[in-house]
Amino acid sequence: MTIASKPKIILDTDPGGDDCFALLWLLSLVKQGVAELVAITSVDGNVHARLTFIAAGKLLKLCGYNDVEVGRGVIGGSAGKIADAGEIHGADGMGNLSHTLPDDPQRAYEMARGSEEILIEQLQAKPGEITIVAIAPLTNLAAAERRSPGVLKLAKEIVIMGGAFQAPGNVSSEAEFNIAYDSRAAQQVFSSCDNLIVMPLDITRQLIFTPELAAQVSAVNPTSAIARFIVDLCQFMVGTALKFREVVGESGFLVHDAVTLAYLFYPETLLFRRAQVEIETQGEWTTGKTVIDRRRQPKTGSNAWVAMEVDQQVVLTALVEDLKFLII
Ligand code: BDR
Ligand code: CA
Repeated sequence: MTIASKPKIILDTDPGGDDCFALLWLLSLVKQGVAELVAITSVDGNVHARLTFIAAGKLLKLCGYNDVEVGRGVIGGSAGKIADAGEIHGADGMGNLSHTLPDDPQRAYEMARGSEEILIEQLQAKPGEITIVAIAPLTNLAAAERRSPGVLKLAKEIVIMGGAFQAPGNVSSEAEFNIAYDSRAAQQVFSSCDNLIVMPLDITRQLIFTPELAAQVSAVNPTSAIARFIVDLCQFMVGTALKFREVVGESGFLVHDAVTLAYLFYPETLLFRRAQVEIETQGEWTTGKTVIDRRRQPKTGSNAWVAMEVDQQVVLTALVEDLKFLII
């Protein structure tokens, strides 16, 4: 693979089974020399911020990238209105497998810098250079913008997994988890920037990762601890995906968050439309809904590119082939 300039990435994440796959994919791209992981800003979401911090640190340690800083997430985005997603991702956010992964004694949640502080520092130090890959509630990003107005505009782009347009939501009929969990944060981010790339459920629902794909990855080096984690996490996630009817009749689970890497490294797999995305924050039944004006009339502004179509076979093949690099 050749790439003109290596993206400098901050991953804002709340691991989460699909977040783990996104991070492993990103680390494989770092290992291949085509991406730079500047920092991970963990956040409250799928499970509590303390657990997402621990999960991110353990994955980095597992893969030998323990020198990457992990920020401590801003807490309280949902204010208890939306339940976390521990039932889907496991109580630890990683399929109840965290006890099988190495601890990193160098990391302590209490000592870590705040995620919003890292975002501000990096964006101000490298204006126009940092790509934020945001695969979780947007609480950290909104906190950074509140503390330093205009800072998010310094990002090269902000690639967000979130929202649902034609497709139904997953926390309500209308709303998707990452947006609904902290809809006010999402509103703040969407009203502060026009450098947004949005990957909604409309396309991520097509990305079904199966145990057969996990086995293909693992076959390259079955004794590797990373391979075992991939197989075991996939198995756990398939169980809850079926239980919560996220996949219909197929034994697999949705790797929502991974599609952000497809946009950055395999952009030919996606089609987009330009739009002004608004966030519903006050609806009685629709809070967290992402809204665009679909009427055929002149539009006066736009803040985002919204992914409309994905070539799921090519994305899943790229994910599998890249993950193999991580375990050889
Ligand atoms: C999003 O919600 C979370 O549960 C997943 O990790 C993903 O980021 C999908 O709606
Ligand atoms: Ca996530």
